[in-house]
Amino acid sequence: MERQRSIFTIFLGFVLLGLYRSAMARFVVEKNSLTVTSPDSIKGNHDSAIGNFGIPSYGGSMAGTVVYPKENRKGCKSFDDFGISFKSKSGALPTFLLVDRGGKGDLVILGGIFLLVFSNLVVSFAPFEVNWLFWRLIGGLRGALPLILIKVAIFRPFQGMLMIFEVWNAQNAGASAVLVADDIEEALITMDSPEEGRSSAEYIENITIPSALIEKGFGENLKKAISGGDMVNVNLDWREAVPHPDDRVEFELWTNTNDECGTKCDMLKEFVKDFKGAAQLLEKGGYTQFTPHYITWYCPQVFTLSKQCKSQCINHGRYCAPDPDQDFSSGYEGRDVVLENLRQLCVFRVANETKKPWVWWDYVTDFQVRCPMKEKRYNKECADNVIKSLGNVLPLHFML
Ligand SMILES: *[C@@H]1O[C@H](CO)[C@@H](O)[C@H](O)[C@H]1NC(C)=O
Ligand SMILES: *[C@@H]1O[C@H](CO)[C@@H](O)[C@H](O)[C@H]1NC(C)=O
Repeated sequence: MERQRSIFTIFLGFVLLGLYRSAMARFVVEKNSLTVTSPDSIKGNHDSAIGNFGIPSYGGSMAGTVVYPKENRKGCKSFDDFGISFKSKSGALPTFLLVDRGGKGDLVILGGIFLLVFSNLVVSFAPFEVNWLFWRLIGGLRGALPLILIKVAIFRPFQGMLMIFEVWNAQNAGASAVLVADDIEEALITMDSPEEGRSSAEYIENITIPSALIEKGFGENLKKAISGGDMVNVNLDWREAVPHPDDRVEFELWTNTNDECGTKCDMLKEFVKDFKGAAQLLEKGGYTQFTPHYITWYCPQVFTLSKQCKSQCINHGRYCAPDPDQDFSSGYEGRDVVLENLRQLCVFRVANETKKPWVWWDYVTDFQVRCPMKEKRYNKECADNVIKSLGNVLPLHFML
């Protein structure tokens, strides 16, 4: 008894460890996340457990028409094998494929109970002369079965693996979303599904359509409406399934003030110019919080006294930038770029501390226009003029 208990404890430990280590797919129950918009007879809001994979990582919703396949209703096999496709025709609403949850758990439990009873019967009625090996076998079976049953029972709510393959098959057949109707009456719970083996992780990565588990009864209603010839339209809303603890997006911008490195620098300048308006509005509205970063290199210590390092770096080789024109003896030097990067970081720091981080965009775009390297105006004097022109927005006078 004692021994059995300890085996059981160890086993549970493994189960929990397994859950902890490999939980990847998660189904989060969302209230009223699924709305039937037609037919009238089943109109209304329903809960569903939305998978955390396949949905875009920003909030959204999708409207579509529910289809229940005539064959392969569990979606366990590829729909190709049945010549079925769910690609919606252009102009039509996206297809929501309704499939049955492929739970085999109950069958396994029933089979297991049967075997357990059977093996007990055999052991109680078998004469002792019965082959020793056979006896051992039955004994072993009796010992192992409860564990197998417990495993199946525990994993009953965690059959994400199967659901992932159902979703995968549906996606390959052209469905835009998947509704998985539960196969037993139970309340939806938020669940992690441990993925055993590495194979399903690959599938999860490649799933690009949302999926939701719905209650058995609701599934039946949908099926009834569909078989009655109704067009069933639903709207799935996963806005709540996406974490947004503070309603704000943090983003980081990696940039460089070098304006003569060819196409890359031109693209970067264009981007900053184009994005400025939106970025400032978002920042002022409190919807975003951004941080600019400047790319920097350092000079290996043995070279700190070299001409290259002296021209490309500041602070004894600690902060360097490549020479804009690759010519160490003429034109702008790497250290000019590092100094301007530093100035822009400083502008951001002051702007951010003054609670006006968006002023950074004004400075950066003004500097680009007024102080280009081409016109030999990429220097402190020009930068100072830009700062002056920002007026009294920021207490930046110390920089002049
Ligand atoms: C998932 O996508 C990657 C990259 O497109 C591909 O290499 C891989 O084979 C795909 N996995 C499956 C299971 O289709
Ligand atoms: C900008 O300011 C905010 C709040 O004032 C602060 O949380 C954030 O860390 C600052 N960002 C940087 C890069 O200093």
